[in-house]
Amino acid sequence: MIPITKPTLPLWEDFEQEFKAFFASGMITNHEQVKKLERELQNYLGVKHAIAVSSCTSGMMLVLRALGLTGEVIVPSFTFSATGHVLLWNGLTPRFVEIDPDSFIIDPTKVREAITPHTSAILAVHIFGCPAPVEELQQIAQEHQLKLIFDAAHALGSKVGSQMVGTFGDAEIFSCSPTKLLVAVEGGIVATNNDELARSVRIGRNYGNPGNYDCEFPGLSARMGEFNALLGLKSLAMLEHNIARRNESVKKYKELLVGVPGIRFQQIDPLLRTTYKDFSLLIDPEQFGLTRDLLAEELQQQGIQTKKFFNPPLHLQKTYHKYKDGYNDKLQLTEEIAQKVLSLPLYSHMTKEEVQQITEAIKVIQSRQQKYKLVL
Ligand SMILES: Cc1ncc(COP(=O)(O)O)c(C=O)c1O
Repeated sequence: MIPITKPTLPLWEDFEQEFKAFFASGMITNHEQVKKLERELQNYLGVKHAIAVSSCTSGMMLVLRALGLTGEVIVPSFTFSATGHVLLWNGLTPRFVEIDPDSFIIDPTKVREAITPHTSAILAVHIFGCPAPVEELQQIAQEHQLKLIFDAAHALGSKVGSQMVGTFGDAEIFSCSPTKLLVAVEGGIVATNNDELARSVRIGRNYGNPGNYDCEFPGLSARMGEFNALLGLKSLAMLEHNIARRNESVKKYKELLVGVPGIRFQQIDPLLRTTYKDFSLLIDPEQFGLTRDLLAEELQQQGIQTKKFFNPPLHLQKTYHKYKDGYNDKLQLTEEIAQKVLSLPLYSHMTKEEVQQITEAIKVIQSRQQKYKLVL
């Protein structure tokens, strides 16, 4: 079985001594390892504050609350459920907008069109690690005095030119769950240059308690444990290497798949660096000869796991039916991409042979289908 992904973990021997030390001290949460991870990430990202939390979801919940948002927030529908859920948990209304057909990222032109007097923010997503058009979005946010937040769950290590993702907008929030490149078992990182926002998130991860138990607001219990932070530190040490390895694997995938009829890749501008948290294709059923779903089934039968990220898109999920009015007929592109998208297995320690095996399987399935069509 080739799984869709698996975490690239450090050797236990590299971990053991430090783990034993803090385990023996009894200080097992939100302590020295967490502080060290925060410091190292601040340096790596070139950002003033990196705050470790229990997940990207809790980080986004805290950021949105701290920014005091109201009314509507512009957000793509082609994203993971958590991007929308954090709005609902803050009593905010999602205004779903279309994505760019090549990059699958929120389309700034559509963002402009969706602004109303009730809009308070834009929540953009660096899909699969590919940075969103940060400059255009910053420009729009500035012109309309909107807050700008990035769901950077996939993008720890992504770059726009030489500038790291994590430094744009009011805040960017990363995920450190096992499917991401920086793994802390579970966890999230809020990156911001805003001191006030940082203070609020630090207090907010601890019930809203500034230290004297006189809570300033109803915060969450969203701290990061020391074990998580230590794993995160080991993972950070491997991050650059792992990004390079993933980019290599994707290059190999593309070399082997280019020219297969009906397959299209996510387009990444050469000025951007993506982490390739996922490698996602679009399968055109007419040209490929088979639907995305049938291809996924055939690959599964051959022991190759795939995922349909992100299908269904948010606006078609039960949770969001209530917000259907006004945009549903305008999200045709999102729906089309959600019907065609297929993520292939990718992990940092993937071998060339595995990439070859997967692409060979796709080609065999495709050519069998073409022959079948000719016979018919
Ligand atoms: C785009 C996006 N946002 C948010 C999340 C949630 O991350 P976490 O599990 O750390 O809360 C995910 C999880 O995969 C995601 O893909």
